[in-house]
Amino acid sequence: MAVRCLITAGPTREFFDPVRFISNPSSGKMGYALAAAARSAGWTVDLVSGPVSLPEPAGVMLYPVVTAEEMSRQTDALFGPCDVLLMCAAVSDWRPASRQPSKLKKDGRGMTVELEPVPDILTALSARRRPDQVLVGFAAETEDVEANARAKLDRKGVDLVAANSVAGVEGAFGSEENTVTLVGREGFRRQLGPASKAEVARLLVAEVAARLAKR
Ligand code: CTP
Repeated sequence: MAVRCLITAGPTREFFDPVRFISNPSSGKMGYALAAAARSAGWTVDLVSGPVSLPEPAGVMLYPVVTAEEMSRQTDALFGPCDVLLMCAAVSDWRPASRQPSKLKKDGRGMTVELEPVPDILTALSARRRPDQVLVGFAAETEDVEANARAKLDRKGVDLVAANSVAGVEGAFGSEENTVTLVGREGFRRQLGPASKAEVARLLVAEVAARLAKR
């Protein structure tokens, strides 16, 4: 069966002047590992990526983006024909309410940047999903990992939530190893890892492939 998979990866950057932004420490490694695993499974892969320092994975269509707004537009354009969405990007939850056209000059005083919420890309996509698509959301939790991830199943309209524990120094950001708690409907729960991000990605793609086969 030909499978088309849309993956988002990495952070987004939200600028308040041409040279300054807010972002997060996402390295993009998990999303890129998923892209490689999906490709190895024979899937056609569209990878929408925020700014990362990783080599382009072979055999995938890479769509570089910077801001959440750009990621939203790009995923919106690619979502229709996809069978699988792996929404792994660490989209910024807030962005500056305005962006100054020229660089702000410092004057020795403090300053305040007003932030506004970023619309949830995954929720917007799931609102127009087809039942045969498999949607996977990702969650970075510091506590009550499984309960918080389970709450996101309905809130985001997805089939699976892959939850990372980012508590403490062993958190997932930037690391090579990962442990993911995968939760789904009807109490489904499966732990992937601890293992390399490549192995966790392979296990996750295999789980999604098994679900596609049942549809
Ligand atoms: N996400 C998104 N658009 C946003 C923010 C997040 O599509 N503006 C997606 C992420 O890519 C991820 C999922 O939503 O797949 C979970 O994001 P997370 O920030 O962990 O959850 P929230 O729902 O924002 O909840 P909270 O921050 O309260 O844990």
